[in-house]
Amino acid sequence: MAKEDIELIKNGKRLDGRKFDELREIKIEVGVLSRAMGSAYIEWGKNKVIAAVYGPRELHPKYLRDPRRAHLRCIYNLAPFSVEDRKRPGPDRRSVEISKVSSDALSSVVMLEKYPNTVIDIFIEILQADAGTRCAGLNAASVALADAGIPMRDIVSSCAAGKVNGEIVLDLMKEEDNLGECDLPVAIIPRKKEVVLLQMDGKLTREEFKKAYELAVDGAMRVYKMQKEALISSVNDVIIGE
Ligand code: CDP
Repeated sequence: MAKEDIELIKNGKRLDGRKFDELREIKIEVGVLSRAMGSAYIEWGKNKVIAAVYGPRELHPKYLRDPRRAHLRCIYNLAPFSVEDRKRPGPDRRSVEISKVSSDALSSVVMLEKYPNTVIDIFIEILQADAGTRCAGLNAASVALADAGIPMRDIVSSCAAGKVNGEIVLDLMKEEDNLGECDLPVAIIPRKKEVVLLQMDGKLTREEFKKAYELAVDGAMRVYKMQKEALISSVNDVIIGE
């Protein structure tokens, strides 16, 4: 059976009842780990993700140090128990790729020049996966960096859109990601709407791409609002002493 023949949309609704432009439910918590400089936990639909920031700290081995800026190192890890078929522990091609694109995206907002010769480590741990984990990880990592008090030009906000049964939809869940026609994760610097990550798995026409891209950016802007709200309420908790 061809992918477009698998019924993922029934009577104009998606498998989980969402409209085409609807996000899954998102919950963000700030400062969840006491030993990290900054941390965040995000639940995005069935995704459960923790991000932890350590540093700036001394970088070893020394030859990796850059006298002009800090080295930002993002490590994305899909836990063995996070997916249906147990994943072999340790890095694989997919996690190395996601770590690289996440490091690149976050490096464009962190003021690395303030901390020469050091390293800022960001660990993104996927505890439960249901598609869109790279977006969820980036959103959590941005909030964790802000929680660590690391100077940034803005935060990174991310969301995916894609094509399912010929329709352009926002924020694909696992069945849609695995059985749909295309997934398009996007990450932006919200205030400038500058793109810092754009990947495409599948095929879209030029018009479909434009529509999916605009939908993903709109989703990322909605996530941005939630990231800011989570950060503001965490600061208020400290001030009020909760
Ligand atoms: O999670 P994301 O959409 O950023 O990345 P993906 O490579 O498109 O993976 C989509 C989904 O497939 C993941 O979120 C997992 O739910 C699932 N997956 C899996 O079940 N086993 C793996 N080894 C990798 C991914």
